Amino acid sequence: RGDVEIEPSLYAADFMRLGAQIESLLDAGCRIFHFDIGDGHFVPPVTIGPVVLRSIAPRIHERGGVLDCHLMVTDPAHHFAELAASGADAVTFHVEATADAAGVAAAARALGLAVGVAFNPETEPEAAAALAAEAGAEIVLCMSIHPGYSGQAFMPQALARIARLRQLVEVPIQVDGGVGEGNAAAARAAGAALLVAGSAVFGDPDPGAAYRRIAAACA
Ligand code: DX5
Ligand code: ZN
Repeated sequence: RGDVEIEPSLYAADFMRLGAQIESLLDAGCRIFHFDIGDGHFVPPVTIGPVVLRSIAPRIHERGGVLDCHLMVTDPAHHFAELAASGADAVTFHVEATADAAGVAAAARALGLAVGVAFNPETEPEAAAALAAEAGAEIVLCMSIHPGYSGQAFMPQALARIARLRQLVEVPIQVDGGVGEGNAAAARAAGAALLVAGSAVFGDPDPGAAYRRIAAACA
């Protein structure tokens, strides 16, 4: 596939069958897993956290995969040490959650974590790009929904926001929210290289097959 990766959002998994679903995705060639952490404050729900991460990280790492944590939390740096110890490889924090993007990014790097910055639909790409530069972010995540829940519809205006961001940053752009077979190609064409997909992957009885279809749709 070259320059595009589908990242299944484990928040949308069936937790009764989590292990089997992860194996199905690993077998399909998936190597980046998106792990959504919500604190009930920055976003309304508490989602999943280090306890789940610790259970799945060894197997994912054994098969060459990585865990990319999306922190939808008010105080991202507070969580870094526990996430690093639990097997996180990367942390993406929201620009809306901090006035000190550089300091938060430095705290993550000190623990060996790769760093991304995310921004909400009401934040301008220009502001996000400026903070991403300050943070030295390795990816920038453009939300295509209001964060909090899986299963929401893709906001079409995200495509123009990705395209604008593409002009402002050099690093890979990630898109998250409502991505599936029907819009993956458009998101890629707009400039996104990392496509997060939750319900489009886990809503299928065979997540690996869904992963392959989405990848094929934007190949
Ligand atoms: C939402 C999360 C997303 C979500 C994506 O708060 O950040 O990653 O799980 O799920 P879908 O693809 O169903 O929108
Ligand atoms: Zn997410």
